[in-house]
Amino acid sequence: MNNLLNKDKENIWHPFTPLLGASEPLLITEAHGVYLHTHDGRKILDAVSSWWVNLHGHSNPHLAKALAEQANKLEHVIFAGFTHEPAIQLSENLLSILPENQSKIFFSDNGSTAVEVAIKMALQYWYNQGINKKKIIAIQGAYHGDTFGAMSVGDRSIFTNPFASFLFEVEFIDFPFAQQEEATINQFIKLIDTDEVAAFIFEPLIQAAGGMRMYSTQLLDNLIKHAHAKNVICIADEVFTGFGRTGKLFASDYLVNKPDIMTLSKGITGGTMPLGVTTCSDKVSTAFKTDDFLKTFFHGHSYTGNPLACAVANASFKLLMHEDCVHNIQRINSKHIEFKRRIKNHEALHEVRVLGTIIAFELRSESGSSYDHEVRKKIYPFFLGRDILIRPLGNVFYILPPYIITDEQLDFIYNTIEEFLTTVTAEL
Ligand SMILES: Cc1ncc(COP(=O)(O)O)c(C=O)c1O
Repeated sequence: MNNLLNKDKENIWHPFTPLLGASEPLLITEAHGVYLHTHDGRKILDAVSSWWVNLHGHSNPHLAKALAEQANKLEHVIFAGFTHEPAIQLSENLLSILPENQSKIFFSDNGSTAVEVAIKMALQYWYNQGINKKKIIAIQGAYHGDTFGAMSVGDRSIFTNPFASFLFEVEFIDFPFAQQEEATINQFIKLIDTDEVAAFIFEPLIQAAGGMRMYSTQLLDNLIKHAHAKNVICIADEVFTGFGRTGKLFASDYLVNKPDIMTLSKGITGGTMPLGVTTCSDKVSTAFKTDDFLKTFFHGHSYTGNPLACAVANASFKLLMHEDCVHNIQRINSKHIEFKRRIKNHEALHEVRVLGTIIAFELRSESGSSYDHEVRKKIYPFFLGRDILIRPLGNVFYILPPYIITDEQLDFIYNTIEEFLTTVTAEL
């Protein structure tokens, strides 16, 4: 096994990981339910659903079966000029649960590409009509992915510094903290009043990578209402929030005013296969229904609509819609709320935030919040040392577990968090 790790070190460049000075990765040989099994016999509780993708537990037998059956039938086929049942079935499944105005499904293969597609769709919506609208509005602190379009609409940060001059210009409105919602709305109205705005992109209700920052549903509803009054295309990036994370199937389900375009990925396959989806309303797709070949949406990826990914997404959909899963999501939410009540006044904490199956802990910090906050170096090893995988975002850490996690497993994490807070307080 050491040989494998040596080869890993020699050959592989891991994501978001420095090439020098990073600790050795853990070698995972199997994963079942909420546990990742290491080559040397450890069993690590995956409290972050492996980058927020896993819904029904690792190596879920129902998903594995669907994947194997599909692999023996049709593994892949070009998706231009060809189609297949798993993709058609998935489009039916998604449209049956998405907000009613969503009517077309465009496939890609990850969250960033789903966002690229959304941005391009929104911009070409105007281009196809011969209307010159090019401005995009985003929210300060946003993260929409690592490709260039997605980076452009994301926060300018240590992630994007080397590429700053290559990113297109975007108007950022302030994050709508509770005390400054009015100011954010006024900023927004001023921008859309120019009649130059093509689109508004947002992570609905919670900025995930930006520090699990939650904001008001009413405020977002208000922004969308104003945007629609000015014909601005609204893009809800539900890559993180989709498929039950926030307590409802989609964060947009909390809204009265629905987005024109939505992006999905992560939980769509239950965390088994990479898949991205961008959906849109009739309003958007109508601008592409033309005899003019040059107004075609010229976008696609080799693995667009991959049958294996679609088949496993259909299997995951079945589990997601089952009453057990609906109950589990509510159960996790109740447990989170109860734990929040118990520890919210802890002196090490600035704030505890809960939304659906997500609970986030922001540690008190004299130096403000940032992804490279020094305390992150304590959080990760503390929990890993106790066989829990928690990946901090600077001075914020969070749990968003697979929905099949048991109450006892949640209690184990909560108790370890309390132990951690006591340790941090002692060092304050
Ligand atoms: C809201 C949001 N959009 C897009 C992405 C990018 O997804 P991916 O990592 O699959 O490219 C992420 C990833 O964390 C995300 O949280």
